[in-house]
Amino acid sequence: MNRVVLVVVALVSAGLAGGGSVQAEGDPQAGQDKSMVCASCHGADGNSTSPLWPKLAGQNGAYLMSQIKAFREGTRKDPSMAPMVASLSAADIADLASYFESQTGHSGSGDISTEAAGRRLYRAGDAAQGVPACMSCHGPAGEGNGPAGWPALAGQHPDYLVKQLQAYKSGSRSGGQGGMMAVITKGLSEDDMVAVARYINLLQRPVAGEE
Ligand code: HEC
Ligand code: HEC
Repeated sequence: MNRVVLVVVALVSAGLAGGGSVQAEGDPQAGQDKSMVCASCHGADGNSTSPLWPKLAGQNGAYLMSQIKAFREGTRKDPSMAPMVASLSAADIADLASYFESQTGHSGSGDISTEAAGRRLYRAGDAAQGVPACMSCHGPAGEGNGPAGWPALAGQHPDYLVKQLQAYKSGSRSGGQGGMMAVITKGLSEDDMVAVARYINLLQRPVAGEE
């Protein structure tokens, strides 16, 4: 086992133990009312149609809250998001997170069986490049890890995913638990990023109760 893999194993264990997780305990109804301003970009039900605006529907609340706070505090930077969250209170953030968490995320359409390179990276990683399996943290179906606040990825827009992988690799995105992704993306090429993003976009999130 090389050093990167050992670090990742330690991080996974910390996450599974629930290190630092916060559950969203907001009011989804109040969140829906407050989400009107978000809808123009993220879609009324959190399924945005633009490739660079992430889908929020079905994302776990702890992750959503951590990212809204990161934009508010400036540790995650984006010119279109910063003004949207600048004046949100802690209660607003919890309400918005529980609203989007309660929505159903839609996956992309296409034939996942042809995405062999992306599937291999997602499920097995690339030991020679020190890249761990994505599914060890993001789940075999891309469902994420709610208690740890690790994001669901399934169905997300490929262009958005590639942009985030590039940002972690270049260091322009680092807030919160992003340190893990900086280590993980070191060994990913542009082709790897595109392949894994296409695969993730076609993953179907498990329906509640059928896991
Ligand atoms: C003008 C368009 C726009 C509006 C309006 C907007 N957002 Fe965003 N949002 C974005 C973009 C673009 C990103 C991705 C930024 C990046 O690439 O890092 C984003 C990212 C996010 C993320 C991170 C998602 C992830 O998977 O990491 C969250 C959470 C979020 N927005 C919540 C909100 C909420 C809540 C509102 C309403 C209060 C809102 N946004 C309004 C454009 C917008
Ligand atoms: C050790 C656990 C771990 C592994 C393994 C891992 N990730 Fe992550 N990933 C995370 C965490 C934690 C975050 C949230 C980081 C933050 O706060 O910015 C994240 C965030 C992401 C995001 C941003 C999601 C969003 O909505 O903006 C993408 C994309 C991503 N990971 C893709 C991958 C891919 C592709 C792989 C495999 C090559 C992978 N991850 C492997 C833990 C992991």
